[in-house]
Amino acid sequence: MGRANKVVLAYSGGVDTSVCIPYLMQEWGVKEVITLAADLGQGDELEPIRLKALASGATISLVQDVTAEFVKDYAFPAIQANALYENRYPLATALARPLIAKILVEAAAEYGADAVAHGCTGKGNDQVRFDVAIASLNPNLKVLAPAREWGMSREQTIAYGEKFGIPSPVKKSSPYSIDRNILGRSVEAGVLEDAWSEPPEEVYDFTKAIADTPNEPTYTEITFEQGNPVAVDGKALSPVELITELNAIAGGNGVGRIDMVENRLVGIKSREIYESPAMVVLIQAHRDLESLTLTSDLAQYKRGIEDTYAKMIYNGLWYSPLKSALDAFIKDSQTQVSGTIRVKFHKGNAIIVGRKSVNSLYNEELATYTDADQFDHKAAEGFIYIWGLPTRVWSQKIRG
Ligand code: ARG
Repeated sequence: MGRANKVVLAYSGGVDTSVCIPYLMQEWGVKEVITLAADLGQGDELEPIRLKALASGATISLVQDVTAEFVKDYAFPAIQANALYENRYPLATALARPLIAKILVEAAAEYGADAVAHGCTGKGNDQVRFDVAIASLNPNLKVLAPAREWGMSREQTIAYGEKFGIPSPVKKSSPYSIDRNILGRSVEAGVLEDAWSEPPEEVYDFTKAIADTPNEPTYTEITFEQGNPVAVDGKALSPVELITELNAIAGGNGVGRIDMVENRLVGIKSREIYESPAMVVLIQAHRDLESLTLTSDLAQYKRGIEDTYAKMIYNGLWYSPLKSALDAFIKDSQTQVSGTIRVKFHKGNAIIVGRKSVNSLYNEELATYTDADQFDHKAAEGFIYIWGLPTRVWSQKIRG
């Protein structure tokens, strides 16, 4: 009796997930492996990947393009939440996992599988995200993670694959571990493991080196409707077009590189290089528009929620009751967040130089220092008397 009968495996075309196919069947007694490759706008050619799964022993090889859903239902809520893990990482990799988990669970139902599988190792966050998201969507489905248990080195994995006709990587495989989708790239390992060493230029792909960026600034206007980005320079774009366009503009100006040491959920600190040009700029612009359109108490209260929200995405709790309650809060907070932000891109910087909104709460007659001033200066005195009263009473008491 094997660990499962029929398994849907999350498939990327890489060595590890390919080796999972014979491994599940030979070592764990699985009778049938169906692979599922998700197209998240990572730019890989998916037909060769589909065929490779079949050549590696899969009975059915599925490819599903979920890029539009990924941007609209996963990235845009994260933008509304200004979600940055540890204040910096825009969560491109983390956001993809709950969506992949969802299509795995759907495929398992459609094909009558009793388990799903993924190729994550036991050291990362992704295994947590998959396992928890899958459990949340279908608690009766088994989750198999061969690479977490097989204990093979890279060389042993390749040798194991060769026994079952899985070609070893043709070119000397990259020293880096790279995850990539339309929202960005996450790069780790190789020389990056030394937290003191500057990342070589070769690790970057979505962003230009500052030395290669234009000398003249680029001005770009981003329009939001109820917290969702909808247009660039006045041109309405679909969510996927909009991310693609901003990746090009921001990346072309060297914006969106992040070099950080982060705290993984499994307790390890890791040095990671991210490139996420569109997400970095969209969160910055969205936050600015909120400062124009939200009342001060709502804006300040929301900051606390945002940190929790980002942590929940990072820690694999996308499908959870707290996350869904926070979604309701964030959605409600966005009803007035419509308007346009003007961004100046120059030499690695994205600088917000203008903002406007029909819902703007910024009142020039209150803010001005000219004689158009409408603010009641005398009212300030009484306000300060009452505001400072507790402090004055306390000071009298202890300083007399
Ligand atoms: N540390 C990031 C995260 O947990 C990215 C991990 C992506 N994997 C990689 N091979 N770089 O979301």
